[in-house]
Amino acid sequence: MSEDLSIFVGAGDTDQNLLLKYGNRHGLIAGATGTGKTVTLQTLAEGFAAYGVPVFLADVKGDLSGMSQKGGDNPKAVERARLLKIDGYGGRAFPTMYWDLFGEKGQPIRTTVSEMGPLLLSRLLDLNATQEGVLNIVFKVADQQGLLLLDFKDLTSMLQWCAENAAQLTTEFGNVTKPTIGAIQRALLVLDQQGGQQFFGEPALDLKDMIMRDANGVGCINVLAADKLMQSPRLYATFLLWLLSELFETMPEVGDTDRPKFVFFFDEAHLLFDDAPKALIDKIEQVVRLIRSKGVGVYFISQNPLDVPESVLGQLSNRVQHALRAFTPKDQKAVKTAAQTFRPNKKFDAADAIIELGVGEALVSFLDAKGAPTPVERCFVAPPQSRIGPATDAERQAVIKASPLAGKYERVVDRDSAYEVLMGRAGAGQHQDADMTPPAAPSTPRRRGQYGAPPLPDTAPGGPWGAPPQQQQPQPQWNPPPQQPPTYDAPPPPQAQPRLRRSLPPEEAPPPRAPARRSDSVIDAMTKTAARTVTNVVVREATKAIFGRGGIGSSIVRGVLGGLLK
Ligand SMILES: Nc1ncnc2c1ncn2[C@@H]1O[C@H](COP(=O)(O)OP(=O)(O)OP(=O)(O)O)[C@@H](O)[C@H]1O
Ligand SMILES: [Mg+2]
Repeated sequence: MSEDLSIFVGAGDTDQNLLLKYGNRHGLIAGATGTGKTVTLQTLAEGFAAYGVPVFLADVKGDLSGMSQKGGDNPKAVERARLLKIDGYGGRAFPTMYWDLFGEKGQPIRTTVSEMGPLLLSRLLDLNATQEGVLNIVFKVADQQGLLLLDFKDLTSMLQWCAENAAQLTTEFGNVTKPTIGAIQRALLVLDQQGGQQFFGEPALDLKDMIMRDANGVGCINVLAADKLMQSPRLYATFLLWLLSELFETMPEVGDTDRPKFVFFFDEAHLLFDDAPKALIDKIEQVVRLIRSKGVGVYFISQNPLDVPESVLGQLSNRVQHALRAFTPKDQKAVKTAAQTFRPNKKFDAADAIIELGVGEALVSFLDAKGAPTPVERCFVAPPQSRIGPATDAERQAVIKASPLAGKYERVVDRDSAYEVLMGRAGAGQHQDADMTPPAAPSTPRRRGQYGAPPLPDTAPGGPWGAPPQQQQPQPQWNPPPQQPPTYDAPPPPQAQPRLRRSLPPEEAPPPRAPARRSDSVIDAMTKTAARTVTNVVVREATKAIFGRGGIGSSIVRGVLGGLLK
């Protein structure tokens, strides 16, 4: 094998390795239910993390939460390690960050309404073309007026204002009707009932908090609790799409690197594409294509490879195909298509093999050293070293408590924005700024890919992150990574500071923001904005301000997908 770093994915007749330098050439893990997709994802995620690549994954069934815990004792995993003759197989806990849109099973994740942008918001609210057009106008008016759209209250009060001024807006921008605005408001209510309003507000997610390594240079496993989220499939899919577009927007171009900067696993990928309009699929295809040069690998996980549109499927170079059933004509078509996407191997027929594969067995093809897909091979997938299955609530809470982000996102900050301005309120504020520490030194593998990497020291009670955050404060300093990477023969000595390393360059600190205040629900907000006496005054004042002034303010309507659509 060449000197390229690689993840040992499994073995059949030959070892199957995913070359780290092609980790950003995306991938697909497909297979029927119970065939081993999640375990394969876990093995790949561990492989990336062991080489210092942070990953993000959505934990749809809760069975990936165990990655924060040492495994290696699962009888099937032990048996698989023995079968594959894996040197040094043993338990290993991975530095894990739990995230949860609802803030129950991890750090809350929020973004602002402006950051999400009208395109994704329209998708989230399931708006039709007319309603989407009006939502665009609402954003534009807010933009012109310099009104920040941060949370649900801002959006609802802005919508209320636009309804009050529908006639003037129609003159200026085209048809804006009260019934259309009413429909958008109703869609917002539905989203609110699904808990969606918690997703909007501040402090918004700082992506640097996901792109971290621990003191040993191991990439962070970002686990999104998605069991409850999956009950709102549209929120789930739109959120992941938003995250992908944020990554695209935030990450710098890096060209060819020896390993990816970040890897994103997109489970239940069919939800992304179900009923998606062509324009959106085109944009997803474009983002997936372009994000590669930013060092981001995207891996789709799906039961059926036909769930992924061909334009996207064509870009997924690292393939793991678990067993498929072939009961119905549709099943048979899926088997045939899956088989045809592989480069044939004279030794066997891929379509026959796909239906014969056992659990944890797969057809695989990765890119070889020259970047060409290898002929399809049948292999037993290597077992993960962390726990297969969920973490207990107590284990999860211990990890969350010891997390370097503990306390950063829990408290909602409600600064001066559209709602407060329209309601005639004012304020000033405060914002927690992310600290910056230098990127970790690259890690060097020994034999057998990630399995040669040293186990993390047992650091309980702090967990794999090390001691609790209050004992060690990361220093906001940036040094180039050491020229000589540490070898795994001699694990690096424990470092007191900085405890966390980030792989993004520093940015200017954002200005101070408003003090924390609990965000109202959308229903409260709508009730308040409907309070005529106040609103009428506000409406009059804001009308003067908007229509009495020409020119368009600087755009606050962001969102990569929105930008790309122009
Ligand atoms: N590579 C493997 N090594 C050892 N055991 C495995 C492996 N892959 C799968 N298994 C065993 O099979 C079980 C089912 O696998 P897994 O949960 O990954 O299936 P899945 O395809 O994700 O199922 P679902 O579609 O229901 O989510 C695992 O709990 C584990 O016991
Ligand atoms: Mg699964």
